[in-house]
Amino acid sequence: MNKTKKDNYKSFSNLLLNWYDKNRRNLPWRALSGELPNPYFVYLSEIMLQQTVVSTVIPYFLNFVKKWNTIDQLAKADFQEVSFYWAGLGYYSRAKNLHETAKIISNDHNSIIPCDKSKLLSLPGIGNYTASAIMAIAFDIKSNVIDGNVERIFSRLYAVDEPLEKSKKYIEEISERYLPNQRYGDYAQALMDLGSLICIPKSPRCSSCPLISFCKVGGTNNAKIYPKRLPKKIKNNRYGLFFCLINQHGDILMTKNNNKGLLSNMDVIPSIGWLKEDKNYFSKSPNFITKKDSLFDLDWKILEKKIIHVFTHFKLNCSIAIAYIDNNDILKDQSVKKSYKFIDSQNLKKLAIPSLIKKIIKYLEDENYF
Ligand code: ADE
Repeated sequence: MNKTKKDNYKSFSNLLLNWYDKNRRNLPWRALSGELPNPYFVYLSEIMLQQTVVSTVIPYFLNFVKKWNTIDQLAKADFQEVSFYWAGLGYYSRAKNLHETAKIISNDHNSIIPCDKSKLLSLPGIGNYTASAIMAIAFDIKSNVIDGNVERIFSRLYAVDEPLEKSKKYIEEISERYLPNQRYGDYAQALMDLGSLICIPKSPRCSSCPLISFCKVGGTNNAKIYPKRLPKKIKNNRYGLFFCLINQHGDILMTKNNNKGLLSNMDVIPSIGWLKEDKNYFSKSPNFITKKDSLFDLDWKILEKKIIHVFTHFKLNCSIAIAYIDNNDILKDQSVKKSYKFIDSQNLKKLAIPSLIKKIIKYLEDENYF
């Protein structure tokens, strides 16, 4: 590499790290300046941050570490309780993997988070991004940690005109060149903070950016159009019907979702459909319900109100069927008793209930259905 280029990269990382020293966010999983990070905190935060924004993660992270302050404590926890503390963060399989990985680290790795990328990659729930982030942030090992912030920063620095979906490899190559020869964890977090505080998606604050002199579009109106993207696919609609059964005590019928994928193992209100086509006409004809669709053959009333919930790949249009019973006779049947239970409002708060179900329950409570 010629000397000017090398100096250039060095001054880039120096400017960024100096900016970070003055402007870094104070996040609860981060070590204070000059202190060593806690690898368990770094690991836990990275799993929580995989699909969730920092402001949402902070209270969850604090509750988790208050309850389970070490990886061993988490490994020994009952999964029901872990899932309760996770509920609301979404992408529930992350909680399952988190607990599995805690058990593996506790049993097979002497309770020490491995400082080895291939070992990290072998653990459930840890992919390339998370392994790189742990290596850099927890162990200060040189790694190119590329999240959405980093992609946005480098696509602006180089005015990358190819849509991000096609330029990931190129961005990886250019970002690699800028890695410093020290302070790898700080550098990774500095890029994240720059992306969250300055090089933000809609109206970048270029006048406060320490890297403006390196940026092809910095300070221009064009900065905000990067990264370019392929046209968005419209989210498919799906349609489902949720059976809200309330007993004489005001308790609601819940079941454990035994689907493998979405919301697997969570406590849910029983539902049918979730199909692409609204074959059952849930959304169109509020009172239409066939005998075959009806749960326990009760006298269900279908509400006009639809609850819309957006998942990553589709939008679920939820219709609500409501029925009341004045005894728990339906639970006399052993197979029903095994799969369903009535839950009172106090115990509802203790279950791992997905946001969609919380939304439905809140609507029913607000409208005094129970
Ligand atoms: N997003 C993913 N990892 C992060 C981290 N360690 N700090 C801030 N934002 C993040």
